[in-house]
Amino acid sequence: QELQLNLEQIEKGGYEHFMLKEIYEQPNAIKDTYRGRLQSRDNFVKMSGIEDNLRKFTNANRIIIVACGTSWHAGLVAEYIFETIATVPVEVEYASEFRYRNPIINSQDVVIAISQSGETADTLAAIKLAKEKGAFVFGVCNVVGSSIARETHAGAYTHAGPEIGVASTKAFTTQITVLTLLALKLGKANGTLSNSEFNKYLLELESIPEKVEKTLLTDEHVKYIASIFKDAANFLYLGRGYNFPVALEGALKLKEISYIHAEGYPAAEMKHGPIALIDEQMPVVVIATKKGHYEKIISNIQEIKSRKGKIIAVVTQGDTQVKKLADHTIEVPETIEPLTPLLTTIPLQLLSYHIAVMRGCNVDQPRNLAKSVTVE
Ligand code: G6P
Repeated sequence: QELQLNLEQIEKGGYEHFMLKEIYEQPNAIKDTYRGRLQSRDNFVKMSGIEDNLRKFTNANRIIIVACGTSWHAGLVAEYIFETIATVPVEVEYASEFRYRNPIINSQDVVIAISQSGETADTLAAIKLAKEKGAFVFGVCNVVGSSIARETHAGAYTHAGPEIGVASTKAFTTQITVLTLLALKLGKANGTLSNSEFNKYLLELESIPEKVEKTLLTDEHVKYIASIFKDAANFLYLGRGYNFPVALEGALKLKEISYIHAEGYPAAEMKHGPIALIDEQMPVVVIATKKGHYEKIISNIQEIKSRKGKIIAVVTQGDTQVKKLADHTIEVPETIEPLTPLLTTIPLQLLSYHIAVMRGCNVDQPRNLAKSVTVE
């Protein structure tokens, strides 16, 4: 038993929990995921799984993404990215719903299945159904040789390394990395992106690991914020556009490991319901980077403030406007809008981590949850 414990300590590499280790591994995990693929000097993205099937992608009527949990959130981010970068219509589906509907799909459709473990039963069943209907199915998995990796026609691995913590962290950011590369490849192939636009994206993606590293420096400040709100009974997470799925993911992380009830919402939908919940007891995490919808997010923040909600805002470095309104701000470096989720998600992972630790929860193995769900 003692040997077992020591072994675990070694595996955690000096971190108190696997989750924290995996949060800190993200700069390298993202780099490992784009290494060899992102070739900024040659202005090229190398992904053989796509090159071998490029016509399937460029001729596709639409892309349907199927996934569960955190992987589904990565799919939602990808929807925005694909539509902007590659101008392909995208639908994102919960695998469990997709498989039991009668989805209208055919050989003109490309289905992308996203799964960290590559073993999720619902996602696997959705893939089988899509194949039966003649669609081309592409997998984005982390575990090499997993069932989903084997069942799909082609795919691209995330090179996140083993993810042990039940709450997914580095799998999410590396999934977004792979899907961004895929979108770039398609955008170039179908002529949506000029060479210089393409290059701009490559260079910016290449700088993300360093920016994630900088974002991780907020850890102590986030821990302090966690200490203030650790006893809250509810949390609301708001974001717009690319950061709407990040709000969902932030809320999911908090629920999973701290057992605090949390809801993620598109910020503008707040007035259609959640606003009724806001009072001085309610912490509201708002993703308010300077890109896209900034002014609109500010007016959402004002609405929360006038109802005395407590605002924790994730902002772009150097922001002054939101700072004046929010109770707490967490700064992330500036990047282009489609890549903001890779940064904004980091403090939200840290926030849920610290709150869970302060509440004495089992961070790496939360109650009732499994790392890979191989049953329905
Ligand atoms: C479980 C895990 C989540 C994960 C989801 C989908 O619920 O606890 O962290 O996001 O399954 O798993 P997958 O391996 O398919 O990405």
